[in-house]
Amino acid sequence: MRITIIGTGYVGLVTGTCLAEYGNDVLCLDVDPRKIEILKSGGIPIYEPGLEEMVKRNVEAGRLRFTTDIEESVAHGTIQFIAVGTPPDEDGSADLKYVTAAARNIGKHMTGYKVIVDKSTVPVGTADKVKAAIAEELAARDNTTSFAVVSNPEFLKEGAAVEDFMRPDRIVIGVEDDTARDLMHSIYAPFVRNHDRILYMDVRSAELTKYAANAMLATRISFMNELANLAEKLGADIEFVRKGIGSDPRIGYHFLYPGVGYGGSCFPKDVQALQRTAAEYGQNLEILNAVESVNYAQKSVLIHKIIQRYGENLKGLHFALWGLSFKPNTDDMREAPSRIVIDGLLARGATVTAYDPVAMHEAQRAIGEKTGLAYADSPKQALESADALVVVTEWKAFRSPDFDEVKTLLKQPVIFDGRNLYEPERMKAEGFEYYPIGRKQP
Ligand SMILES: NC(=O)c1ccc[n+]([C@@H]2O[C@H](COP(=O)([O-])OP(=O)(O)OC[C@H]3O[C@@H](n4cnc5c(N)ncnc54)[C@H](O)[C@@H]3O)[C@@H](O)[C@H]2O)c1
Repeated sequence: MRITIIGTGYVGLVTGTCLAEYGNDVLCLDVDPRKIEILKSGGIPIYEPGLEEMVKRNVEAGRLRFTTDIEESVAHGTIQFIAVGTPPDEDGSADLKYVTAAARNIGKHMTGYKVIVDKSTVPVGTADKVKAAIAEELAARDNTTSFAVVSNPEFLKEGAAVEDFMRPDRIVIGVEDDTARDLMHSIYAPFVRNHDRILYMDVRSAELTKYAANAMLATRISFMNELANLAEKLGADIEFVRKGIGSDPRIGYHFLYPGVGYGGSCFPKDVQALQRTAAEYGQNLEILNAVESVNYAQKSVLIHKIIQRYGENLKGLHFALWGLSFKPNTDDMREAPSRIVIDGLLARGATVTAYDPVAMHEAQRAIGEKTGLAYADSPKQALESADALVVVTEWKAFRSPDFDEVKTLLKQPVIFDGRNLYEPERMKAEGFEYYPIGRKQP
């Protein structure tokens, strides 16, 4: 099938590449010439395990191409996936300017039947807006070509995006047009050969499903963060509590890890956007209001622990920071808690040397130059002459460090651990002052 992907970011590039892997003829469009240039010259603009080889394979096979040419991209695919960004607007609602621009481009140039698929995370009612924008552009040139708009939200996780797309838990398709439904079925059937996991529904329910999923996951995280803070006060250990409740199959173990708050390109903006949508319809989402405010506070939990230890003025103190990306296995720095930790330390006069296994380049681009902030080439180098280590992202490489070496490199054996990577008993035995989240101190 001839498929166009509009927006070649995390979602668009993974979607396009995985669809090409199953034999489709895919053209990926982006308005950012830098990204297309990198892709055309054989690189990829993001870090995502397994993606680069798959892109290469499909480009070589002639099934995957990249362009900045809008007319070419509209002409190419019968199916046009919209996978552009939907960042938060000033009031927290999803900014649909990129989605609308993509829709208008299709309306301006299409000459035959098209299925337009909203893959971006968009508020309920967006498919209607996309439909209206395309219809307006068609009407402006007296064109009566028919088209259908489908909602197909994406559930992939950065860091495991290829695996998630190739072996999805479910594929949600909101469709109200029979031809479009058949086409969507042919695209996705190869991904669910062993048992059918395609859920067909109406368009509005599909749009809401994506927000409901992210809001539920964010809720679990904030719930555990709030309980972790309470456990500290009560002298209980949140790790025991996590296992104790996770073993209940009605609850399960996923997304019950306390930490430094959720970040990334999705949860923060999607929780806010759902609150805004509800407000527009006169409903106050009380649970999500709490989820958001707990998360906001949690992003400063490490700073509070550091202030408790050293006092408000951190002048003259130097911190090693491990982990910059908002989670492991990605270089995504959007809403990364590390940024709040770095700002909090610098604002109080401290200096920081940061290290991340993958996100160094992206972090320098996103954070830019800051007085007092340096970047190290290795976790060890970051530790040199630091007064304490602050762990912000749970990369595997940080899980079993050589604690003797850590002690030798640090000026004092102090660790603030925003991800509970180490056991308090062990840390005590190794001679560290250890500050985890919600753990009982031995
Ligand atoms: N990143 C994730 O983990 C994830 C997961 C599920 C859903 N989503 C959703 O998918 C959407 C895309 O997210 P992302 O992380 O891939 O964003 P991204 O910022 O990585 O990529 C979006 C791309 O769209 C391009 N673009 C913008 N306007 C365009 C236009 N008119 N024509 C062509 N290209 C255009 C941008 O240049 C950019 O490269 C968002 O709505 C997001 O919420 C993201």
